[in-house]
Amino acid sequence: MTHEKLMKKPELTQEEANAALRLAIRQTESCLGEFSQQFKSIFSEGGFYSPAPNEQWTNGFWTGELWLAYENSGDDRFREAAAKQIDSFLTRIETGNRTDTHDLGFLYSLSCVAGYKLTGNQTARKAALLAADRLKSRFHQKGRFIQAWGSLENRNNYRLIIDCLLNLPLLYWATEETGLPEYADVARAHLETALSVIIRPDYSTYHTYYFDPDTGIPLRGVTHQGYSADSAWARGQSWGVYGLALSYRYTKDPKYLEDFKHVTDYFISHLPENLIPYWDFIFEEGSEEPWDSSASAIAICGILEMCKYLPEAEAAPYLAAAKRMMKALVDLCAVTSPEISNGQLLHGVYGKKTPYNDCIDHGIDECNLWGDYYYVEALTRMTKDWNPYW
Ligand code: GLY
Repeated sequence: MTHEKLMKKPELTQEEANAALRLAIRQTESCLGEFSQQFKSIFSEGGFYSPAPNEQWTNGFWTGELWLAYENSGDDRFREAAAKQIDSFLTRIETGNRTDTHDLGFLYSLSCVAGYKLTGNQTARKAALLAADRLKSRFHQKGRFIQAWGSLENRNNYRLIIDCLLNLPLLYWATEETGLPEYADVARAHLETALSVIIRPDYSTYHTYYFDPDTGIPLRGVTHQGYSADSAWARGQSWGVYGLALSYRYTKDPKYLEDFKHVTDYFISHLPENLIPYWDFIFEEGSEEPWDSSASAIAICGILEMCKYLPEAEAAPYLAAAKRMMKALVDLCAVTSPEISNGQLLHGVYGKKTPYNDCIDHGIDECNLWGDYYYVEALTRMTKDWNPYW
């Protein structure tokens, strides 16, 4: 999609953004009964989530959605439901229940940092700092990166993934909160390593990158959920967009700003006519492959965050793109009634098996928790000056 073509598309108006946000809050409200004591499953099936325990990488997104609903409505029922979930996050980090992962930022920024920022909840602060400690402990000195998944001793796990950029704000926050520089130092070191390997010459990105456990030397880029090692997984690219914006927010390092522009330009210029990306950018206009609406929601949040720091003239084309992408999400993907779905954003993809990746088919053309969360965050950003939970 060229910039010229993009500019011919309609943008989401302020009234439309307000109306979409009101609808989204009603959707969250309709889930309060079933999902206050329990969490939601990772993705919907036939449009509907089931109740699930707090043991996946996605649980923070639902709590984050509750905090957004509280902030946007002032309705205490959302605050009470989110606050109740804080205890579960403390137990999870204290008992180490499936915390052998870099996903601690997704989990704890949106649940506990958010709860602490919005209500001063001290249990939330404690849980988030414990999570930051755990995340920091996954840093490998030799390779200078935070390991994505699994045991740190297993040599086959010696790799980083682009998604981790969204987990770095938990570390920046921990430094701000405690005054101890080591959290942010790890975040910066990881980011430097990631950026040195993960962005290709055409500014598409690798999903994951392996290193040699003996020497720390970068070995090869591969994919887990993208189409193939060399393709551009749409969600991976969007993690790059938003991750760079968030690291820029904390560091103001001009290099991150330049990288942000490159990966974002790649994302926008590879959108199809309807402005909803296919799940991998290898697919072109007219493909029958499913979309990944969540990738668009994530990228919009990243663009809106970075536009706060760009001079007006530089921000303008990015802002215009974000408003047009948002219009497409609202028109083509938003859930409009609890009878259709108990989520927010239709047409996401969690993973789709190909001969060249190692994921399984799941959550295809469904809602997923991060798509829901980022959609509501994006609407929030479009309707007020929002203080991020990140
Ligand atoms: N971070 C996992 C995913 O994007 O599916």
